[in-house]
Amino acid sequence: MNVSDTVHYVFLAAAACFVLGLHLMNHPRTARRGNTLSAGAMALAIAATVWLVADEGTISRTGWLVLVSGGLVGAALGLYAAREVKMTAMPQLVSLFNAVGGGAAALIAVNDLLRLENAGARTSLPGALDIVIGAVTFSGSLVAAGKLQGLVSGAPVVFPGARLLNVLLPASFVAGSIWLVLAPDSRTALYGLVVVALLFGVTLVLPIGGADMPVVIALLNAFTGSAVAMAGFVLDESALIIAGMLVSSSGGILTKLMADAMNRSIAGIMVGGFGTGDSAPAAGGTGGAPAQVRPVSADDVAVQLAYASKVVFVPGYGLAAAQAQHELGDLAKLLTDHGIDVSYAVHPVAGRMPGHMNVLLAEANVPYTQLKEMDEINPEFPQADVALVIGANDVTNPIARKPGNAISGMPILDVDKARSVVVIKRSMGHGYAGIDNELYTDPKTGMFFTDAKKGLSELKAAVGEFVG
Ligand code: TAP
Repeated sequence: MNVSDTVHYVFLAAAACFVLGLHLMNHPRTARRGNTLSAGAMALAIAATVWLVADEGTISRTGWLVLVSGGLVGAALGLYAAREVKMTAMPQLVSLFNAVGGGAAALIAVNDLLRLENAGARTSLPGALDIVIGAVTFSGSLVAAGKLQGLVSGAPVVFPGARLLNVLLPASFVAGSIWLVLAPDSRTALYGLVVVALLFGVTLVLPIGGADMPVVIALLNAFTGSAVAMAGFVLDESALIIAGMLVSSSGGILTKLMADAMNRSIAGIMVGGFGTGDSAPAAGGTGGAPAQVRPVSADDVAVQLAYASKVVFVPGYGLAAAQAQHELGDLAKLLTDHGIDVSYAVHPVAGRMPGHMNVLLAEANVPYTQLKEMDEINPEFPQADVALVIGANDVTNPIARKPGNAISGMPILDVDKARSVVVIKRSMGHGYAGIDNELYTDPKTGMFFTDAKKGLSELKAAVGEFVG
């Protein structure tokens, strides 16, 4: 068997590992293994590619220098970013990774079309698609990362003629793609297509904002996968095609799940500038407690917890911001050891990234059996003696059941159906959607105004006094 055949078998094995890795990611217990398996398979595929390139002997000394130094710089930057990034800044990082993936895929097609003399439709059709999807993903993801990082306004940015532009630009890249397929040697068609696609990425994402951003990031992730698959067709490389399609389809499924969880239509989000998800993130807390809410102390809450039979914890973005997952896990363990039935209600878009609460709670070694998704936990709230909300806001807001507000129709955790509710947050500040929460003025709700980490430590000490 020659090197080329061996390498193709390695690619096939790597693709099988990607599928297996994705399957293992279905459960928190096996997710880490799935990640390691997929990363290992990718490392193997990269090593096999380098072997193939070396065997073909077509690469110059400068080419090797670029390849090796590019790989080292990229790996170092990726490792640094992934290790150092705060969990709350993860969506921006994912968005930057999407940009890099889309940009790299588009460059592959540009390079191929520039180098191939007399490229036929077989190369230029996937090439054109690769450029369009890759370049749209590149610029769109950069704008999305800028919005999430606060470098670009997080609110929908709508300018006169934006809608018209969003019709004209796709029309011109359809025309440009046809031109490129008919005349693969035309540099005007090639560069024009790149510019139009880059512009469209910007005008596509600018008008989207507020709570719709997570769905957009997932969609751009799916686009990255499609661009990579197209690059696979351009290079006639099966591993790229399979890996790209896996990213594309899983990103597509995630997009649909998140849009459903927020009761939005994907088409409505992409057209942007209308619908109900366009409110800007709240500027911050208003400070202090208005008269109509009932402030409570650590001791008040500890008594309720210590004498409860069933307690449901409702974590949200504030738990992540305070990095209070270990304090929460400790308090839950104390209650569980005292014979109290404890569970965690996990909303699909709680926090700032898909699976944010699962990741945090896994860090605190919370038993998986205590984690309950929205559909499972909602029927249990009426039997809960205490629902303890820790830094969650929008995902508990009963106003979502009413029409005409920023989160209308978004399925929520039915916290208000519990026998009593305690909310830990620092002030009456808004959540991501920027609206008041009716839960806080419910007579059965007590507001424990404090930082989540500090509050949970105080609660643990106070509950310890009762049960210890
Ligand atoms: P939010 O509605 O954003 O509310 C978080 C609350 O945490 C705030 O009201 C804030 O109140 C409190 N908080 C912040 N720091 C705190 C601290 N150190 N200690 C205690 N509390 C603290 O969170 P949520 O309920 O998790 O909802 C998530 C929202 O983000 C949804 O609107 C969702 O659409 C959106 N979103 C989700 C994602 C994904 S994929 N999960 C991505 C982007 C956006 P104080 O300031 O008063 O403390």
